[in-house]
Amino acid sequence: MPDSTRAIDVVAATTRTDEQLAALFGAVYADYFVPVHLDGIALRTMVRRFDLDLGASRIAVAGGQALAIALLGLRGTRAWVGGMGVVPQARRTGLGRRLMEVVVAVARARGCDAVQMEVLEQNAGAIALYRELGFRAWRSLDVWALGRALPDAGARAIPAAEARAWIAARRTAPEPWQRADESLDRFDLPESPLRGLEVAAGGNRTGAAVALVAGGRASLLQMAVEGADPVAAARALIAGAGAWAPSVRFLNVPGDHPAAAALAAAGATLEARQFEMALALDSGAA
Ligand SMILES: CC(C)(COP(=O)(O)OP(=O)(O)OC[C@H]1O[C@@H](n2cnc3c(N)ncnc32)[C@H](O)[C@@H]1OP(=O)(O)O)[C@@H](O)C(=O)NCCC(=O)NCCS
Repeated sequence: MPDSTRAIDVVAATTRTDEQLAALFGAVYADYFVPVHLDGIALRTMVRRFDLDLGASRIAVAGGQALAIALLGLRGTRAWVGGMGVVPQARRTGLGRRLMEVVVAVARARGCDAVQMEVLEQNAGAIALYRELGFRAWRSLDVWALGRALPDAGARAIPAAEARAWIAARRTAPEPWQRADESLDRFDLPESPLRGLEVAAGGNRTGAAVALVAGGRASLLQMAVEGADPVAAARALIAGAGAWAPSVRFLNVPGDHPAAAALAAAGATLEARQFEMALALDSGAA
């Protein structure tokens, strides 16, 4: 370990208040590619929605000052790094690597078989660090935003639970963590219930989607399409979501999902491209 990290303690995130953690989160992302602003309430929302476990998450502290944070989400045997960083003045001293090694060890000790995360494609430093630790990128995930209405193509509202069940029966790849079923369970609140959509062709359902509508935006959370023209089905569902709010957003769409092609063709903005990276943990290793 480099000398500069010798006097640094790595402790559980529960040693700080939510407000202190939010401030630290803001400090480590101060010069990030996209603005990151968090207060204690937003942090608590993140913790609840994404099953972040503050007892399993870690911060690095020197002389009482917090320098780095790694938030770990836990769901059964899966673990997810839901944000990590080092304050700018403490970078390139091995702290990021050390903190990641600790949370990976925590995940392993909790019986997880993999740790995953997303990283922006332009974040070469973080990608280099994760690759050194054995993480591998296995797919790209794109963030899309559409600020205009598309012509109605026949999508109609159905109960969110019905849409979710239809999608789950057709899922060929895991949903990204922030749109996984467990996340949707947390999103589904009485004051803002999830909404479902379907589209059909020739009397058969060819697609379904789930969205959350809030703050002038319809956020698509999950979508499955099938049939002869899956891109057209995706476009119809996007149009249906667009009828609920002035803008539609779809976070972390796999590059090969028909919705990506439909959004690109509709002139949507590609706000960010991320890589989903994962590290398999040896079973039984402690
Ligand atoms: C990415 C980040 C966490 C790295 O933390 P760090 O403490 O500086 O990283 P380390 O000192 O442990 O670096 C370990 C290795 O990772 C690689 N690495 C880290 N930062 C790098 C950079 N900017 N460019 C190239 N390689 C880098 C190097 O191989 C480095 O080893 P070396 O210093 O011996 O060459 C830090 O830059 C950061 O907080 N950035 C802003 C927030 C962020 O991007 N978080 C990740 C979101 S997914």
